[in-house]
This record gives sequence, structure tokens and C-alpha cells, in this order.
Amino acid sequence: MSVVEKAGSPLNALVGKKKKKKDKSRRKVDDTRRGPETFDIDFDALRALGCFSPDALSTPVAMELRAVKRRLLRRLGFLRMSPDRQAFRTPGRQRNLILVTSTQAGEGKTFCALNLALSLAMEDQIETMLIDADVPRPKIRARLGLKNDIGVTDCLIDGHDWRSAVRRTNQGPLSIIGEGRPADRTAELFGSPQAQSLLTDLSAELQDGLVIIDAPPALAMTDAVALAKHVDEIVFVVEANETPEPAIASALDELLDVNPNVSLILNRCLVAPTGSSYSSYDYYGRTDDAPSARGKEEKNDGEA
Ligand SMILES: Nc1ncnc2c1ncn2[C@@H]1O[C@H](COP(=O)(O)OP(=O)(O)OP(=O)(O)O)[C@@H](O)[C@H]1O
Ligand SMILES: [Mg+2]
Repeated sequence: MSVVEKAGSPLNALVGKKKKKKDKSRRKVDDTRRGPETFDIDFDALRALGCFSPDALSTPVAMELRAVKRRLLRRLGFLRMSPDRQAFRTPGRQRNLILVTSTQAGEGKTFCALNLALSLAMEDQIETMLIDADVPRPKIRARLGLKNDIGVTDCLIDGHDWRSAVRRTNQGPLSIIGEGRPADRTAELFGSPQAQSLLTDLSAELQDGLVIIDAPPALAMTDAVALAKHVDEIVFVVEANETPEPAIASALDELLDVNPNVSLILNRCLVAPTGSSYSSYDYYGRTDDAPSARGKEEKNDGEA
């Protein structure tokens, strides 16, 4: 098996490895025996919604995503253009938890989170996990045709092993954890030690990959701020000509209070303000390398 294949090896292997440990310790919740359930993505349906598809790599959305990914990966310590996956991360760095949020509803958070996940997994072959943490308005499962099932709230409230909530596509290194059962006080839930521990586990399990969390809007609910404390990078979606500036400022204030690593995606931008040829999205990274909220090593990115 090549180094690249090893790095992108399916979660099934990870689940198998953990399962043995679980069998020995006879833990109460043992629903990971069969490995993750798999599903097929209907790329035709997604393409009709303007989403990324691995068969159409020269569409505007695919090109725009490339620009976004390049800056995001650089900020997370991934080395661009490396043919060797082991050399793809800066040694000693493990910054792989990304939160996607925005000011208010309908600005394209789920669109950006889903497209980033699809593109990173299908185009770059990076092991990617997409989590729906928008419990009141979950949309990821619906976009991917997945049924309602065990999800993130079940893991946090009932102690389900996260492996039992993973759904894995057959078409590339992409896994999904849905929102789970409806729950109240989700901000408390996402701010809890259980959430911290779940995200620490996921970060470690996907050490060569990325975890993308689709969150509710930051002004409407405090869930995003609660989650922001646990992640390495916040991708903040701004809808061009729609999101009011004072609202952006308030939401960013809240987020920057708990995590300084915030970058912006300008969504649905018809005229690219940077003069690039990209039309519907663009990405603005901070130029400084601010310290991680999780206190991890934050030296030079080693950007290629
Ligand atoms: N750049 C884009 N190109 C095409 N369609 C888009 C784009 N951005 C968003 N959309 C569409 O706009 C609608 C709202 O987007 P989305 O659901 O991602 O917003 P959201 O911020 O997640 O909303 P909510 O806060 O309700 O979860 C969806 O139908 C989505 O497919
Ligand atoms: Mg959404």
C-alpha cells in the first residue's frame, strides 16, 4: 500500500482497530461492530444544486473551492503540492478541526461546509469528516440523502460511541456524522466537556485528515461560540451584499473573543473584489498566524 493510500485509508480500519479494544473492556455501548454504514452520493443531484462534483473539476465552483482550500490548508499547516501524504502536514502539527458559521440563517454555511468536504475528500483525497452541528436546522443528511439516525447529540447526551454515528461514502474518503436526535440547550451541550472530548477524539483519529463542523448562525444562537472554543479554525461565511456589516462585526466579536483563528468566505459574490476570476466565493485569511484556541503548536505553517 502506498503512503498516500495508507494516509487515506478508510475509517473502517480505524473502527476495526477500536472495536478490538472495546471488546476487551466490555463497554456498555457497543454498536460499532459492523463498521460504519456506507452510502452513495448522488452527484447529479448535488451538481443540480450548484455543488462540487468529482466529474466536473473545471466548473466555477470547483475552481473557487480550490482557492478556498489552498488558503485553508496552508493555515492549518498542510503543505501544498506535496506528492507524499506523510509530508503533507507540518511535523508536530495537528490542526484539523474547522467550524463553519455565519452571522444569520441562509447565508450559505451548509453549502460551503458540504462543498469544502466534498472537494477535499474527492479531489485531494484527504480523509474528511463532516459533522452537522446545526441541531435546530440540520441539512447535511437531506442534501446527501441520508436517513435520520444516531448523530452528534446522541453521542453527547447518551454516550453513544461516535463510531456508531459515522456514515461513510463508498466514493471517497468522506464520512458524515448527522445531527442526531432533537435536543434543547444545544449551546450547553456543545460547550460541555463531552463535546470537548468528542472533538479531541475525532481530531486524533483523523490526524492526517480534517473535521468540518456545520454550525448554526453565530448571532441567532450561542452554539457556534460554544463550538468555536474547541476548534482550530473558524470559517465565517458572509453573504455578499446581504449580510449587514454591523451584524458581521457583532458575530465576529463574539467568535474572536474565544478563538482568534477566523477566516472569511465571501459567498455569492458576483464581482470578485480581489480581481480574481472567481465569482461566487472568495476567501480572506488573516495574514498573521494567531495562536490556536486549543493551545496547540502554532509556529510557521511551512507553507509551500
Ligand atoms: N454559492 C452558492 N451557490 C449556489 N447556491 C448556494 C450558494 N450558497 C448558498 N446556496 C443555496 O442557498 C440556500 C441556503 O444555503 P445554506 O443552506 O447553505 O445556508 P445556511 O447558512 O446553512 O442556512 P441555515 O442557517 O438555515 O442553516 C441553499 O439552497 C443553498 O444550496
Ligand atoms: Mg445550514
